[in-house]
Amino acid sequence: MKERNISKANTAGSATGWGASGRRSGWLNAGCCALTVLALCLSGCATDETSKQVTLKGAFRKDFSIGVAVNQRQFTGQDTNGVAIIMSQFNSVSPENVLKWESVHPRPGTNGYDFAAADAFVAFGEKYHMLIVGHTLAWHGQTPRWVFQDENGRPLQGTNAADRAMLLQRLHDHIMTVVGRYKGRIQIWDVVNEALNDGGNFNRTNLLRQRSPWVRILGPEFIVKAFEWAHAADPGAVLRYNDYSIENEPKRKRLIALIKMLQAQHVPVMAIGSQTHANLNWPSPGLEDAALTDIAKLGLPIHITELDVDASAAGQRNQGADVSQNALAAGGGVVDAANQRLADQYSSLFRVFLKHRKNIELVTFWGVTDQDSWRSSGNPLLFDREGKPKESFQDVIQTASKDPKKLLAD
Ligand code: G3I
Repeated sequence: MKERNISKANTAGSATGWGASGRRSGWLNAGCCALTVLALCLSGCATDETSKQVTLKGAFRKDFSIGVAVNQRQFTGQDTNGVAIIMSQFNSVSPENVLKWESVHPRPGTNGYDFAAADAFVAFGEKYHMLIVGHTLAWHGQTPRWVFQDENGRPLQGTNAADRAMLLQRLHDHIMTVVGRYKGRIQIWDVVNEALNDGGNFNRTNLLRQRSPWVRILGPEFIVKAFEWAHAADPGAVLRYNDYSIENEPKRKRLIALIKMLQAQHVPVMAIGSQTHANLNWPSPGLEDAALTDIAKLGLPIHITELDVDASAAGQRNQGADVSQNALAAGGGVVDAANQRLADQYSSLFRVFLKHRKNIELVTFWGVTDQDSWRSSGNPLLFDREGKPKESFQDVIQTASKDPKKLLAD
């Protein structure tokens, strides 16, 4: 799979190019940088010698692309400050919510689709020459109940062959319709999201998340079919398996077992998405380094897909990605010296990413500013609520100029 030329992505987002494999024409960047310096100086960011290339996408242009999850207020242009940051700092966009099943296919059947917002997201990405990610086709979250029920509301059963056939048909139609609609325009798809079991020690019998209706009714077959249908709908798109906490060894082993099972069946999985919803102490640079080293042995490109670092006091025990966890963290405030500790964790993560630059092609932040974040009480991103770059922004940029041989040294 590694030899696969992803030029399609390059041609589509020619000005962006991506990962160490894509080289991009400079004229657009030159223009961007001047604009960026202006935009950033207007937003009061200090530059110094090493961070002359003050944009994230500029600083890492030889290493990997830098993406961001965008919300409706941003891709419809209402949030002008957010749009200014997106176009100046990032060369890839992911849809935080707008391409999830509940958004694009809220009601059953061929008349049950609503593409208005998703069309606006894709047009936004094309307007700014972004590498466009589609998130996500098959997930247990934000998927309407009707998908897993018959027309009378009876829950579908895995033991009933007609029920299994009905759910497979619904998944087929959804993927062919959604991926087909954006063929050649969305370059990367999260085909399956968070299907792995979370807890307990690793063993081959509990690879998948039994609480997921997809797993409960169809088992691993839905994963195989989802990738095959997405590939049939757009043979040029990069198809990704996406999950969180795969830094932790038991879950990482499950990931590796699952992907090897798919590769053995020649299922077209083409990239691994590691969400990386971190906190100030987790993952440690050592754990992140070990995880990326292990996952790279699968021979597939690695994407960091939903990066943020929770600095909330209550969030330091949380290693999951479930939105319901936030309530626990809310109201506890952030830890002492939060900004400095956030900068330390971000720069140590980026040092590890740079060490693995040969395998990492894309690093996407899960939100533009702390105000936009799903875990905003933890101030988890590089731009504060006013859109001003934080200490961690400078520290991340400066890792780009570090001597590769010394990345994990100090
Ligand atoms: O659309 C409704 C709106 O009509 C209603 O007025 C509003 C008030 O409740 O809710 C809106 O829905 C919210 C939706 O985001 C869209 O904004 C849901 O309540 C809210 O739960 C949902 O949160 C999203 C969450 O996924 C759902 O699980 C977060 O924004 C999004 O950042 C988060 O992203 C997930 C990734 O997709 C997968 N990995 C983990 C990551 C974090 O949980």
